[in-house]
Amino acid sequence: MSLTIDLSHALPFLPDGTLEQLEPAIQEAEHQLMSRTGAGNDFLGWLDLPRRSLNDAQKFTLETNRFREGLDTIVVIGIGGSYLGARAVIDSLADPFGQNRPGPEILFAGHHMHGPYFNSLIANLKDKNWGIVVISKSGTTTEPAIAFRILRRALEEAVGPQLATKRIIAITDGQRGALRSLADKSGYLTYTIPDDVGGRFSVLTPVGLIPIALAGYNIEGLLTGADRMANLTRTAPFHENPAFQYAATRYALHQQGFLIEVLGSFLPQLQYVAEWWKQLYGESEGKDGKGIFPAAAGYTTDLHSMGQYMQDGPRMLIETLLEELEEGPGPEVPSDPQDLDGLNFLTGKTVSDINQAASQGTILAHAEGGVPVIRIISTKYGEEGIGDLLYFFEKACALSGYLLGVNPFDQPGVELYKKNMFRLLGKPGY
Ligand code: PA5
Repeated sequence: MSLTIDLSHALPFLPDGTLEQLEPAIQEAEHQLMSRTGAGNDFLGWLDLPRRSLNDAQKFTLETNRFREGLDTIVVIGIGGSYLGARAVIDSLADPFGQNRPGPEILFAGHHMHGPYFNSLIANLKDKNWGIVVISKSGTTTEPAIAFRILRRALEEAVGPQLATKRIIAITDGQRGALRSLADKSGYLTYTIPDDVGGRFSVLTPVGLIPIALAGYNIEGLLTGADRMANLTRTAPFHENPAFQYAATRYALHQQGFLIEVLGSFLPQLQYVAEWWKQLYGESEGKDGKGIFPAAAGYTTDLHSMGQYMQDGPRMLIETLLEELEEGPGPEVPSDPQDLDGLNFLTGKTVSDINQAASQGTILAHAEGGVPVIRIISTKYGEEGIGDLLYFFEKACALSGYLLGVNPFDQPGVELYKKNMFRLLGKPGY
């Protein structure tokens, strides 16, 4: 198994036997999920996605290879569930400085509305051969729709309308919506977002797979990892099922008064996995006055900013740590005859040895300081390991929602700010 969960620093915060007592509730949540009888059961397409999408993986890879020929940059437009999954996977797998890229450079837009960002983006694209992937199920979400208008115009001006059409992929609803109509009318290459998959569960549909394949990563590997986790979480008994264990532990801690869960990692490439996870858990659980607030921390960076609060602030925090067994060594610390910083005792150790020690030290310190720590350990966060992780979190999230007694697949609370914004901008009818 490439992903394991270690609860040894979390269980001491719970009365003996708590998890065992929760087993019937977890089994009931699993039953509701798998028999498709729970709340939101028309949005359960993600359950079988690894298998379903594996059938399309070769086709997606071939088509994206063809699309990206001659392109050195692709701008992926989308927000929320139509953005975070692709970004999480691409950032996890990519070299942080863009070296040895297996495909074109991937830039993102449509995930905020900061004007100067667009100016810089367009200036940056000026001498490049570039294309666009626009992702929106509704086609009317403000941020990506505005970004697509602006970038489509820029692309048409750069290469002419006919070639621009060949350089645009639209990923949207199969039949309905503004983007579907525009794409069909304009003749863009299109991919369909299944009706039965909500945004935050859509990373293993074309929403995530097409940008990831365009970036040159192995989507079959990603889906194979996810499929392995789908099988494991469907068949493993309670004590060997990482999704059951994670959902039960965080639920039990929440019942004890823990209100915030910080997803932390000593692996900087996982920053956007944490952003994706925040949406997954925040939108799925935070409703009807219930839910754990999901936050993120990147270590060791945030030990120098959030470390104080983690160690000594109000004791309402759970920490979930993403760890990797095969981190890779990094450079050795050289000796320095002057030793002014007093670090010669580290001579010959690798940076990763030190990162591991920082991680072990942090787990012990936080647990001793009153923070339950849940450790999620992958052999390696390559394509398969990331696939494992994404499905694990999705499955545990659905179970967590049912345990809490909420519908984990809707998001009624995200509309109100939009109504206010549209009224302020004078949209007719608001
Ligand atoms: O989870 C959600 O529903 C949201 O994050 C949406 O995915 C996001 O608002 C984008 O919506 P759309 O794909 O319709 O543009």
